[in-house]
Amino acid sequence: MPGTLAVTTDGRRGNMVGVRTIDWKTDHIVIVDQTRLPDEVVFTRLRSVPDLVTAIRTLAVRGAPALGVAGALGVALAALSTADPVAAAAAIRSARPTAVNLAWGVDRVLARLDDGVDAVVAEAVATLEDDIRLNRALAVRGADWLAQRVTGPVNAHTHCNAGALACVEWGTALGVLRALHDRGALGHVYADETRPLLQGSRITAWELRRMGVEHTVVVDSAGPSVIANGLVHAVVVGADRIAANGDVVNKIGTYPLALAAARAGIPFVVAAPESTVDLATPSGVDIPIEVRSAEEVTAFRGVRVVPPETRALNYAFDVTPADLVTAIVTEDRVWEPGVTRVR
Ligand code: MRU
Repeated sequence: MPGTLAVTTDGRRGNMVGVRTIDWKTDHIVIVDQTRLPDEVVFTRLRSVPDLVTAIRTLAVRGAPALGVAGALGVALAALSTADPVAAAAAIRSARPTAVNLAWGVDRVLARLDDGVDAVVAEAVATLEDDIRLNRALAVRGADWLAQRVTGPVNAHTHCNAGALACVEWGTALGVLRALHDRGALGHVYADETRPLLQGSRITAWELRRMGVEHTVVVDSAGPSVIANGLVHAVVVGADRIAANGDVVNKIGTYPLALAAARAGIPFVVAAPESTVDLATPSGVDIPIEVRSAEEVTAFRGVRVVPPETRALNYAFDVTPADLVTAIVTEDRVWEPGVTRVR
Protein backbone atom coordinates (compact mmCIF):
# COMPACT_ATOMS: atom_id res chain seq x y z
CA MET A 1 0.00 0.00 0.00
CA PRO A 2 1.19 3.54 -0.65
CA GLY A 3 2.28 5.79 2.17
CA THR A 4 2.92 3.47 5.09
CA LEU A 5 2.88 5.66 8.19
CA ALA A 6 3.86 3.48 11.09
CA VAL A 7 4.09 -0.15 12.02
CA THR A 8 3.46 -1.42 15.50
CA THR A 9 3.31 -5.01 16.60
CA ASP A 10 0.24 -5.96 18.55
CA GLY A 11 1.26 -6.88 22.06
CA ARG A 12 -1.37 -4.79 23.79
CA ARG A 13 -4.60 -5.59 25.48
CA GLY A 14 -7.23 -2.93 25.48
CA ASN A 15 -9.90 -1.73 23.11
CA MET A 16 -10.02 0.14 19.85
CA VAL A 17 -11.52 3.26 21.40
CA GLY A 18 -9.24 6.16 20.50
CA VAL A 19 -7.69 4.20 17.61
CA ARG A 20 -9.53 5.07 14.44
CA THR A 21 -9.83 2.56 11.62
CA ILE A 22 -10.12 5.48 9.23
CA ASP A 23 -9.41 9.16 9.81
CA TRP A 24 -8.81 12.48 8.07
CA LYS A 25 -5.52 14.39 8.48
CA THR A 26 -5.53 17.90 6.92
CA ASP A 27 -5.59 16.80 3.26
CA HIS A 28 -5.48 13.01 3.22
CA ILE A 29 -7.01 9.84 4.65
CA VAL A 30 -5.29 7.52 7.13
CA ILE A 31 -6.46 3.92 7.49
CA VAL A 32 -5.48 0.87 9.48
CA ASP A 33 -4.51 -1.54 6.69
CA GLN A 34 -6.71 -4.54 7.53
CA THR A 35 -4.90 -6.86 5.15
CA ARG A 36 -1.98 -6.79 7.61
CA LEU A 37 -3.90 -7.82 10.73
CA PRO A 38 -3.42 -9.64 13.05
CA ASP A 39 0.34 -9.71 12.49
CA GLU A 40 0.89 -5.97 12.67
CA VAL A 41 -0.99 -2.71 12.92
CA VAL A 42 -0.06 -0.62 9.92
CA PHE A 43 -1.40 2.89 9.41
CA THR A 44 -1.42 3.92 5.74
CA ARG A 45 -1.87 7.35 4.18
CA LEU A 46 -4.16 7.60 1.14
CA ARG A 47 -3.41 10.79 -0.77
CA SER A 48 -5.29 10.19 -4.02
CA VAL A 49 -8.58 8.78 -5.24
CA PRO A 50 -6.87 5.85 -7.02
CA ASP A 51 -5.11 4.99 -3.71
CA LEU A 52 -8.48 4.96 -1.98
CA VAL A 53 -10.18 2.87 -4.67
CA THR A 54 -7.36 0.31 -4.43
CA ALA A 55 -7.66 0.24 -0.63
CA ILE A 56 -11.41 -0.41 -0.90
CA ARG A 57 -11.05 -3.13 -3.56
CA THR A 58 -8.30 -4.97 -1.67
CA LEU A 59 -10.22 -4.71 1.64
CA ALA A 60 -7.48 -2.67 3.27
CA VAL A 61 -10.49 -0.64 4.40
CA ARG A 62 -13.66 -2.70 4.66
CA GLY A 63 -16.94 -3.17 6.53
CA ALA A 64 -20.06 -1.26 5.57
CA PRO A 65 -19.88 1.70 7.99
CA ALA A 66 -16.14 2.22 7.35
CA LEU A 67 -16.88 2.14 3.62
CA GLY A 68 -19.49 4.85 4.16
CA VAL A 69 -16.90 7.06 5.83
CA ALA A 70 -14.34 6.15 3.16
CA GLY A 71 -16.80 7.29 0.50
CA ALA A 72 -17.39 10.57 2.33
CA LEU A 73 -13.70 11.28 2.92
CA GLY A 74 -12.98 10.19 -0.65
CA VAL A 75 -15.14 13.01 -2.01
CA ALA A 76 -13.16 15.45 0.16
CA LEU A 77 -9.97 13.99 -1.29
CA ALA A 78 -11.42 14.34 -4.78
CA ALA A 79 -12.42 17.96 -4.19
CA LEU A 80 -8.88 18.77 -3.05
CA SER A 81 -6.90 16.72 -5.54
CA THR A 82 -8.83 16.32 -8.80
CA ALA A 83 -10.17 18.55 -11.54
CA ASP A 84 -13.39 16.54 -11.79
CA PRO A 85 -14.62 15.53 -8.32
CA VAL A 86 -17.92 14.22 -9.71
CA ALA A 87 -16.12 11.68 -11.93
CA ALA A 88 -13.80 10.76 -9.08
CA ALA A 89 -16.80 10.28 -6.78
CA ALA A 90 -18.35 7.91 -9.34
CA ALA A 91 -15.17 5.82 -9.32
CA ILE A 92 -15.25 5.61 -5.52
CA ARG A 93 -18.94 4.73 -5.46
CA SER A 94 -18.43 1.80 -7.81
CA ALA A 95 -15.32 0.40 -6.08
CA ARG A 96 -17.50 -2.23 -4.35
CA PRO A 97 -21.17 -2.84 -5.18
CA THR A 98 -22.91 -4.38 -2.18
CA ALA A 99 -22.55 -2.21 0.94
CA VAL A 100 -24.96 0.66 0.36
CA ASN A 101 -23.05 2.79 2.87
CA LEU A 102 -20.34 3.49 0.29
CA ALA A 103 -22.76 5.28 -2.07
CA TRP A 104 -24.48 6.86 0.95
CA GLY A 105 -21.19 8.42 2.13
CA VAL A 106 -20.27 9.62 -1.36
CA ASP A 107 -23.68 11.19 -1.96
CA ARG A 108 -23.84 12.85 1.46
CA VAL A 109 -20.66 14.82 0.78
CA LEU A 110 -21.21 15.30 -2.96
CA ALA A 111 -24.35 17.28 -2.07
CA ARG A 112 -22.07 19.98 -0.57
CA LEU A 113 -19.86 20.38 -3.66
CA ASP A 114 -21.43 23.71 -4.66
CA ASP A 115 -20.67 25.11 -1.19
CA GLY A 116 -16.90 24.98 -1.70
CA VAL A 117 -14.02 22.78 -0.60
CA ASP A 118 -14.14 23.78 3.08
CA ALA A 119 -17.79 22.76 3.31
CA VAL A 120 -17.04 19.48 1.54
CA VAL A 121 -14.22 18.64 3.95
CA ALA A 122 -16.32 19.63 6.98
CA GLU A 123 -19.20 17.40 5.85
CA ALA A 124 -16.82 14.50 5.25
CA VAL A 125 -15.16 14.88 8.64
CA ALA A 126 -18.60 15.01 10.30
CA THR A 127 -19.24 11.44 9.12
CA LEU A 128 -16.41 10.25 11.38
CA GLU A 129 -17.98 11.58 14.57
CA ASP A 130 -21.47 10.54 13.45
CA ASP A 131 -20.32 6.96 12.89
CA ILE A 132 -18.91 6.67 16.41
CA ARG A 133 -21.96 8.30 18.03
CA LEU A 134 -24.56 6.28 16.10
CA ASN A 135 -22.81 2.96 16.60
CA ARG A 136 -22.51 3.58 20.33
CA ALA A 137 -26.24 4.33 20.41
CA LEU A 138 -27.24 1.18 18.51
CA ALA A 139 -24.88 -0.89 20.65
CA VAL A 140 -26.68 0.20 23.82
CA ARG A 141 -30.06 -0.54 22.23
CA GLY A 142 -28.92 -3.98 21.08
CA ALA A 143 -27.38 -4.81 24.46
CA ASP A 144 -30.63 -3.79 26.21
CA TRP A 145 -32.65 -5.95 23.80
CA LEU A 146 -30.51 -9.02 24.44
CA ALA A 147 -30.23 -8.47 28.20
CA GLN A 148 -34.02 -8.42 28.44
CA ARG A 149 -34.24 -11.83 26.77
CA VAL A 150 -31.30 -13.75 28.20
CA THR A 151 -30.90 -14.60 31.86
CA GLY A 152 -27.26 -14.37 32.90
CA PRO A 153 -24.24 -13.71 30.69
CA VAL A 154 -25.04 -13.75 26.96
CA ASN A 155 -23.15 -16.27 24.82
CA ALA A 156 -23.18 -15.12 21.22
CA HIS A 157 -22.20 -16.26 17.75
CA THR A 158 -20.92 -13.77 15.20
CA HIS A 159 -19.69 -13.82 11.62
CA CYS A 160 -17.16 -11.82 9.62
CA ASN A 161 -16.08 -8.63 11.38
CA ALA A 162 -18.62 -6.04 12.46
CA GLY A 163 -16.39 -4.44 15.04
CA ALA A 164 -14.50 -1.18 15.43
CA LEU A 165 -12.39 -2.13 12.44
CA ALA A 166 -15.48 -2.26 10.23
CA CYS A 167 -16.47 1.20 11.42
CA VAL A 168 -14.47 4.17 12.74
CA GLU A 169 -13.95 3.38 16.41
CA TRP A 170 -16.99 1.52 17.74
CA GLY A 171 -18.53 -1.53 16.06
CA THR A 172 -22.08 -2.62 15.25
CA ALA A 173 -22.52 -6.32 16.11
CA LEU A 174 -19.28 -6.36 18.12
CA GLY A 175 -20.34 -2.97 19.48
CA VAL A 176 -23.43 -4.65 20.97
CA LEU A 177 -21.27 -7.39 22.46
CA ARG A 178 -18.82 -4.81 23.76
CA ALA A 179 -21.64 -2.91 25.47
CA LEU A 180 -22.71 -6.19 27.14
CA HIS A 181 -19.11 -6.89 28.12
CA ASP A 182 -18.80 -3.44 29.71
CA ARG A 183 -21.86 -4.30 31.86
CA GLY A 184 -20.40 -7.68 32.86
CA ALA A 185 -23.24 -9.32 30.90
CA LEU A 186 -21.27 -11.04 28.13
CA GLY A 187 -20.26 -14.68 28.32
CA HIS A 188 -18.45 -16.44 25.50
CA VAL A 189 -18.30 -15.34 21.86
CA TYR A 190 -17.97 -17.80 18.98
CA ALA A 191 -16.60 -16.24 15.79
CA ASP A 192 -16.66 -17.89 12.37
CA GLU A 193 -13.28 -17.71 10.65
CA THR A 194 -15.04 -16.27 7.56
CA ARG A 195 -13.44 -17.73 4.50
CA PRO A 196 -11.91 -16.87 2.15
CA LEU A 197 -10.28 -13.76 3.61
CA LEU A 198 -10.62 -14.65 7.30
CA GLN A 199 -12.16 -11.45 8.65
CA GLY A 200 -13.40 -13.49 11.63
CA SER A 201 -10.20 -15.23 12.66
CA ARG A 202 -7.87 -12.38 11.67
CA ILE A 203 -9.84 -9.32 12.70
CA THR A 204 -12.79 -10.21 14.99
CA ALA A 205 -10.62 -12.47 17.15
CA TRP A 206 -8.00 -9.69 17.31
CA GLU A 207 -10.62 -7.22 18.51
CA LEU A 208 -12.17 -9.65 21.02
CA ARG A 209 -8.73 -10.36 22.47
CA ARG A 210 -8.03 -6.66 22.86
CA MET A 211 -11.38 -6.26 24.62
CA GLY A 212 -10.58 -9.13 26.99
CA VAL A 213 -13.58 -11.16 25.80
CA GLU A 214 -13.48 -14.97 26.10
CA HIS A 215 -13.80 -16.24 22.55
CA THR A 216 -13.42 -19.22 20.26
CA VAL A 217 -12.95 -19.32 16.48
CA VAL A 218 -14.70 -22.03 14.47
CA VAL A 219 -14.63 -22.88 10.77
CA ASP A 220 -17.61 -21.43 8.93
CA SER A 221 -19.25 -24.82 8.40
CA ALA A 222 -19.21 -25.40 12.18
CA GLY A 223 -21.29 -22.30 12.89
CA PRO A 224 -24.71 -24.00 12.56
CA SER A 225 -23.50 -26.83 14.84
CA VAL A 226 -22.41 -24.34 17.51
CA ILE A 227 -25.99 -23.06 17.44
CA ALA A 228 -27.62 -26.51 17.26
CA ASN A 229 -25.48 -27.72 20.18
CA GLY A 230 -26.88 -24.96 22.39
CA LEU A 231 -23.58 -23.14 22.93
CA VAL A 232 -25.02 -19.67 22.27
CA HIS A 233 -28.11 -17.68 23.22
CA ALA A 234 -28.14 -15.52 20.08
CA VAL A 235 -26.52 -14.82 16.73
CA VAL A 236 -25.43 -11.19 16.38
CA VAL A 237 -24.15 -9.96 13.02
CA GLY A 238 -23.76 -6.76 11.04
CA ALA A 239 -25.09 -5.98 7.57
CA ASP A 240 -23.92 -4.55 4.27
CA ARG A 241 -27.38 -3.66 3.06
CA ILE A 242 -30.89 -4.10 4.41
CA ALA A 243 -33.69 -4.00 1.86
CA ALA A 244 -37.01 -2.25 2.44
CA ASN A 245 -38.71 -5.56 3.27
CA GLY A 246 -36.12 -6.46 5.94
CA ASP A 247 -34.03 -8.88 3.88
CA VAL A 248 -30.44 -8.64 5.11
CA VAL A 249 -27.30 -8.90 3.00
CA ASN A 250 -24.14 -9.68 4.95
CA LYS A 251 -20.92 -11.65 4.46
CA ILE A 252 -21.31 -15.03 2.75
CA GLY A 253 -22.11 -17.63 5.38
CA THR A 254 -24.57 -15.50 7.33
CA TYR A 255 -27.68 -17.16 5.87
CA PRO A 256 -26.86 -20.67 7.26
CA LEU A 257 -26.53 -19.13 10.73
CA ALA A 258 -30.00 -17.60 10.40
CA LEU A 259 -31.45 -20.96 9.33
CA ALA A 260 -29.78 -22.67 12.28
CA ALA A 261 -30.95 -19.95 14.70
CA ALA A 262 -34.53 -20.30 13.48
CA ARG A 263 -34.36 -24.07 13.88
CA ALA A 264 -32.90 -23.74 17.39
CA GLY A 265 -35.37 -21.02 18.39
CA ILE A 266 -32.75 -18.43 19.31
CA PRO A 267 -32.70 -14.79 18.17
CA PHE A 268 -30.93 -13.80 14.97
CA VAL A 269 -30.03 -10.16 15.57
CA VAL A 270 -28.69 -7.72 12.99
CA ALA A 271 -26.97 -4.57 14.27
CA ALA A 272 -26.50 -1.80 11.71
CA PRO A 273 -26.84 1.96 11.38
CA GLU A 274 -29.80 3.44 9.47
CA SER A 275 -27.38 4.26 6.62
CA THR A 276 -27.30 0.52 5.88
CA VAL A 277 -31.07 0.43 5.33
CA ASP A 278 -31.83 0.92 1.63
CA LEU A 279 -35.50 1.79 1.25
CA ALA A 280 -35.01 2.21 -2.51
CA THR A 281 -34.31 -1.51 -2.82
CA PRO A 282 -37.49 -3.54 -2.31
CA SER A 283 -35.97 -6.92 -1.41
CA GLY A 284 -32.77 -8.91 -1.16
CA VAL A 285 -32.94 -10.24 -4.72
CA ASP A 286 -32.52 -6.64 -5.93
CA ILE A 287 -29.22 -6.15 -4.09
CA PRO A 288 -26.06 -6.58 -6.19
CA ILE A 289 -23.92 -9.33 -4.68
CA GLU A 290 -20.20 -8.82 -5.19
CA VAL A 291 -18.44 -11.78 -6.79
CA ARG A 292 -14.74 -11.56 -6.00
CA SER A 293 -11.83 -13.20 -7.75
CA ALA A 294 -11.64 -17.00 -7.88
CA GLU A 295 -8.03 -16.83 -6.69
CA GLU A 296 -9.19 -15.86 -3.20
CA VAL A 297 -10.70 -19.37 -2.99
CA THR A 298 -8.34 -21.45 -5.12
CA ALA A 299 -5.26 -20.29 -3.22
CA PHE A 300 -4.61 -19.89 0.48
CA ARG A 301 -1.93 -17.34 1.35
CA GLY A 302 -0.33 -17.75 -2.04
CA VAL A 303 -0.47 -21.57 -2.15
CA ARG A 304 -2.87 -23.17 -4.64
CA VAL A 305 -5.23 -25.56 -2.80
CA VAL A 306 -7.39 -26.90 -5.66
CA PRO A 307 -6.44 -28.78 -8.84
CA PRO A 308 -5.22 -26.55 -11.69
CA GLU A 309 -8.33 -26.91 -13.87
CA THR A 310 -10.88 -26.41 -11.09
CA ARG A 311 -12.89 -23.20 -11.05
CA ALA A 312 -14.21 -21.37 -7.99
CA LEU A 313 -17.28 -19.20 -7.45
CA ASN A 314 -16.57 -16.53 -4.87
CA TYR A 315 -19.78 -14.85 -3.71
CA ALA A 316 -18.76 -12.27 -1.13
CA PHE A 317 -22.22 -11.89 0.43
CA ASP A 318 -25.52 -13.70 0.87
CA VAL A 319 -29.15 -12.75 1.49
CA THR A 320 -30.90 -13.68 4.72
CA PRO A 321 -34.64 -13.45 4.13
CA ALA A 322 -36.55 -11.13 6.47
CA ASP A 323 -38.63 -13.95 7.92
CA LEU A 324 -35.47 -15.39 9.51
CA VAL A 325 -34.44 -12.07 11.07
CA THR A 326 -35.60 -11.67 14.65
CA ALA A 327 -34.48 -8.07 15.15
CA ILE A 328 -32.68 -5.33 13.24
CA VAL A 329 -31.21 -2.89 15.75
CA THR A 330 -30.30 0.59 14.54
CA GLU A 331 -29.53 3.85 16.35
CA ASP A 332 -33.23 4.77 16.05
CA ARG A 333 -35.24 1.60 16.51
CA VAL A 334 -35.60 -2.14 16.87
CA TRP A 335 -37.25 -3.47 13.73
CA GLU A 336 -38.59 -7.03 14.02
CA PRO A 337 -39.36 -8.13 10.44
CA GLY A 338 -39.27 -11.88 11.01
CA VAL A 339 -41.92 -14.41 11.79
CA THR A 340 -39.42 -16.73 13.50
CA ARG A 341 -40.60 -17.88 16.89
CA VAL A 342 -37.97 -17.47 19.58
CA ARG A 343 -38.27 -19.90 22.44
O1 MRU B 1 -16.11 -7.95 2.64
P1 MRU B 1 -16.17 -7.19 3.92
O2 MRU B 1 -15.14 -7.58 4.91
O3 MRU B 1 -16.24 -5.70 3.69
O4 MRU B 1 -17.58 -7.61 4.54
C1 MRU B 1 -18.00 -7.01 5.73
C2 MRU B 1 -19.22 -7.59 6.31
O5 MRU B 1 -19.87 -8.42 5.72
C3 MRU B 1 -19.68 -7.04 7.63
O6 MRU B 1 -20.34 -8.02 8.37
C4 MRU B 1 -20.64 -5.88 7.38
O7 MRU B 1 -20.06 -4.94 6.52
C5 MRU B 1 -21.03 -5.22 8.63
S1 MRU B 1 -19.70 -4.30 9.31
C6 MRU B 1 -20.26 -3.45 10.65
